[in-house]
Amino acid sequence: MGAKLPDFAGLRVAVAGDVICDRYLVCEPKALSREAPVMVLRHAEERVRAGGAGNVARNLAALGASTMLYGVVGRDAAGRDVRVELERDLVGVENLLSVPGWTTPQKSRVLAAEPRRNAQQVLRIDHEPGVPAPEEVRADVRARLRAALANVDLLVLSDYNYGFVEAALGKLAREFAAAGRVVVLDPREQLAGLEGLTALTPNVDELARFARVGAERLTQSQSLELAAQAVLEQSRARWVLVTRGNNGMALFGEDVPPGGWAIEASGSGNVTDVTGAGDTAAAVFALCLARGLDAPRAMVLANAASGVVVMETGAAVCTPQALREALQSAPHLAPLSGGVRS
Ligand SMILES: Nc1ncnc2c1ncn2[C@@H]1O[C@H](COP(=O)(O)OP(=O)(O)OP(=O)(O)O)[C@@H](O)[C@H]1O
Ligand SMILES: [Mg+2]
Repeated sequence: MGAKLPDFAGLRVAVAGDVICDRYLVCEPKALSREAPVMVLRHAEERVRAGGAGNVARNLAALGASTMLYGVVGRDAAGRDVRVELERDLVGVENLLSVPGWTTPQKSRVLAAEPRRNAQQVLRIDHEPGVPAPEEVRADVRARLRAALANVDLLVLSDYNYGFVEAALGKLAREFAAAGRVVVLDPREQLAGLEGLTALTPNVDELARFARVGAERLTQSQSLELAAQAVLEQSRARWVLVTRGNNGMALFGEDVPPGGWAIEASGSGNVTDVTGAGDTAAAVFALCLARGLDAPRAMVLANAASGVVVMETGAAVCTPQALREALQSAPHLAPLSGGVRS
């Protein structure tokens, strides 16, 4: 397989969606507590990464695309910290608005390890806003996005169910797709109002939810195919890329054989942390479509890039160099029906 990488620099990308503050509290085990049967950890260091739509954006920027983020955070410490991280990751944050009184979605992970060992996650604490950010702020962000679209090659929507990805944003995105541009949605809870886009990148659980079948059935290729075809019809998307965790990916839609294309997971198998792999998959698949690659080839690259990030702790990004190397030994496409493991 030719390992030449397309040049993503010069592509102008807008990412719109739910921005999350991923916080990592790295600790060392100290003792068993005498207060309760719990472990006592000594705080060693703290790290912040942009999560959700922020992680999609930083994956796009790491591959050289000029990336602007559209969304909201609270006017709180998590919102400030995630903005600093995004700037460090070269993501444009002029259209990430801070909302007084709204809570930035935050996932705080407590990691414990002896020095120079791989950290294990022991606990996660989520801060959740409870309600979407006020409609007038979201409308402001949408107006900014609408005004910018004439100079955008690709729009990626990242839904983490915190309220930014809904029908009004879907309408704007659909118009952009109807004008011949690439719009990719990484969906979460719902597809209503988000029809008519270029492609969707659900994981197996999300596909099962949209197709109203049990996720356990989707280990069978025929059920997976039926569910994907139902979601293609329902969403009127041109492609559905199903991410299947350690089973790789499957692709359905235009110019794909009816049974679908499948690809096995890429990488060495030394998986450290699968957090954010779906964000990388959506980012790279979208970028490849916008670069003019056909959808099966876009899946090969997305799968290779996702195989890179699962080998690092926390939500990571794949650089062009790492992607080029991963492509040297990347798995090949196969018909889904021949290639399913359960
Ligand atoms: N254990 C693994 N080994 C190798 N590759 C993996 C593994 N887990 C995930 N991947 C790669 O990452 C892709 C996306 O992962 P997954 O299907 O778990 O997405 P997701 O559930 O949306 O993840 P998240 O929401 O945490 O970002 C997979 O299609 C696969 O290519
Ligand atoms: Mg996901």
